[in-house]
Amino acid sequence: MRPSDGAPSEEEVGRSSPVYGRSGPYADSDLTGIPRFPQPSGDEVYDLICVGFGPASLAIAIAIYEMLPEARPKVLFLERQQQFVWHAGMLLPGSKMQISFIKDLATLRDPRSEFTFLNYLKENNRLLDFINLGTFLPLREEYNDYMQWCASKFNDVVSYGETVTLVEPVKDSAGKASSFVVHSRAGGIEERRLAKHVVVAVGGRPVLPKPLPEYHPRVVHSSQYSSRVPQALSNLNAPYRIAVIGAGQSAAEVFSDVSSRYHNATTTLFIRGDALKPSDDSPFVNEIFNPSATDKFFQTSPEERHQQLVENRATNYSVVRLELIERIYHDIYVQRLRDPSGASWKLNIRNHSEVTAFESSDKNVTLRMTHHENGVKTVEEHEFDLVIVATGYARDMHQELLAPTRELLSDPAGERFPVGRDYRVQFGDGKVSTDAGIYLQGCNEMTHGLSDTLLSVLAVRAGEVVDSIFINKHISNGHHNGQSNGHATKLSAGSKNAGPHSNGNGHIAVNSNGYH
Ligand SMILES: Cc1cc2nc3c(=O)[nH]c(=O)nc-3n(C[C@H](O)[C@H](O)[C@H](O)COP(=O)(O)OP(=O)(O)OC[C@H]3O[C@@H](n4cnc5c(N)ncnc54)[C@H](O)[C@@H]3O)c2cc1C
Ligand SMILES: NC(=O)c1ccc[n+]([C@@H]2O[C@H](COP(=O)([O-])OP(=O)(O)OC[C@H]3O[C@@H](n4cnc5c(N)ncnc54)[C@H](OP(=O)(O)O)[C@@H]3O)[C@@H](O)[C@H]2O)c1
Repeated sequence: MRPSDGAPSEEEVGRSSPVYGRSGPYADSDLTGIPRFPQPSGDEVYDLICVGFGPASLAIAIAIYEMLPEARPKVLFLERQQQFVWHAGMLLPGSKMQISFIKDLATLRDPRSEFTFLNYLKENNRLLDFINLGTFLPLREEYNDYMQWCASKFNDVVSYGETVTLVEPVKDSAGKASSFVVHSRAGGIEERRLAKHVVVAVGGRPVLPKPLPEYHPRVVHSSQYSSRVPQALSNLNAPYRIAVIGAGQSAAEVFSDVSSRYHNATTTLFIRGDALKPSDDSPFVNEIFNPSATDKFFQTSPEERHQQLVENRATNYSVVRLELIERIYHDIYVQRLRDPSGASWKLNIRNHSEVTAFESSDKNVTLRMTHHENGVKTVEEHEFDLVIVATGYARDMHQELLAPTRELLSDPAGERFPVGRDYRVQFGDGKVSTDAGIYLQGCNEMTHGLSDTLLSVLAVRAGEVVDSIFINKHISNGHHNGQSNGHATKLSAGSKNAGPHSNGNGHIAVNSNGYH
């Protein structure tokens, strides 16, 4: 939906927001010695269309390229941004990765892949300099550059600036869905393409507290921070009043960044809880992000899964990296040193506070905040020039995109699209032909665990999806279903089933079970 106030759409964010470092993405670069991906001609059907070309789909592109080295399927990636950019609105200077670079888009599936972060460093003449940094956590700016470098190798199979609007089934004469129509829009032009398989990897949708309007020139979600804040607050020296809402990594990064950009502004961070809390990335806990943990999690009962998600929430949600908490604490301490009264403080944190009402005028906005302290509830009103909401994301966009396929589920009114271990949507028996299917990525936390929305398992997961679609076919519950069809035969021509083999290009192509 186009924002009514003229705020940039997400498509425009990809095009216009400042991206630090390189001035643009890498030029199209050929994959040496390997045939380019074929494209369907005439009425032919794509083997696979991926909706969204973020890290999850990029990892799938790499896995297809490496696991099907000879028989290339007809694939297409549709991406609404104008270029590959990883959370463009939050590419803040100095912000770091929250994960080891070794968990890049390929290493855990095949450390000898040409798409590893280390190979990217080598090809860009920074390998030794990076080693000298002595870190596992690159800047987000550098990781974005790494992924742009990977993405540039697939330019011929990505259509940027194209937003998918709907996926609907095409039925054969027996009433079975035999393929899917992918509807999309690019610059006002509607497109329709047919695909046997569709992967939906569209990431999250910004969530705002209920009282706040979705589109308002003085309300900015953290996902659009870099592009919209400079427009909304054009004078770097003005004494703006800025509110930041939230207590997660985004809120803390925005709070720190905005106050360093606007020296004369007064910035208040409103959090619901007691205090900013650190993320737990200690080694035993971190094992929940191992690829093997996905198997265990999937096999656990729904009640236990829920309990584990709650227990391990502080690894990822509503938490902040300790070093950033310490920096913010230090900045506030310095204010305390210089002005014990607090009257002149530019940085403030207001805890136990929740926004309950919003009003706006031409000049500013007013937030009504409910504040709880020692069992006493008080209501306060504050005026601001800008409210930045860093209140997280919902991962439910697939629901709308896939609405026409709901009738194929055994329980069309059910809350969720059920998926198997291989991320394939489990439609009702006999409703979809065995050589077609829909796969979901990044919205399966409830069945596949906390790593599902993150980068942690992407390399391995992409291999599992490629295996399920093109090689071993449908391992929904951890077992092969034994189904086979002409499609599989055609595509497996280049993938042997007996151990890793060289594809003649120095890669090791993985056999059907080789990447577990
Ligand atoms: C600021 C920030 C930093 C993060 N840092 C880390 C980190 O350091 N480590 C970590 O493990 N995780 C991190 N995460 C979590 C993040 O979810 C993953 O890093 C990663 O982005 C997930 O990849 P994805 O492809 O599933 O989703 P996304 O990266 O969100 O990509 C989805 C893509 O789909 C496109 N799209 C959406 N809808 C459509 C449509 N209808 N049609 C066409 N295209 C569409 C989007 O434009 C986007 O490019 C971070 C998240 C945020 C917000
Ligand atoms: N540098 C990086 O690598 C980086 C940077 C940013 C984000 N990320 C990642 O991105 C993901 C999302 O992080 P995030 O910080 O955007 O979101 P998040 O972790 O989900 O945090 C959202 C915050 O908003 C608060 N909130 C939600 N609804 C609210 C409401 N109605 N009123 C007031 N507060 C509300 C929550 O409060 P409660 O705490 O009270 O629930 C929580 O503190 C995480 O995986 C994170 O690691 C990474």
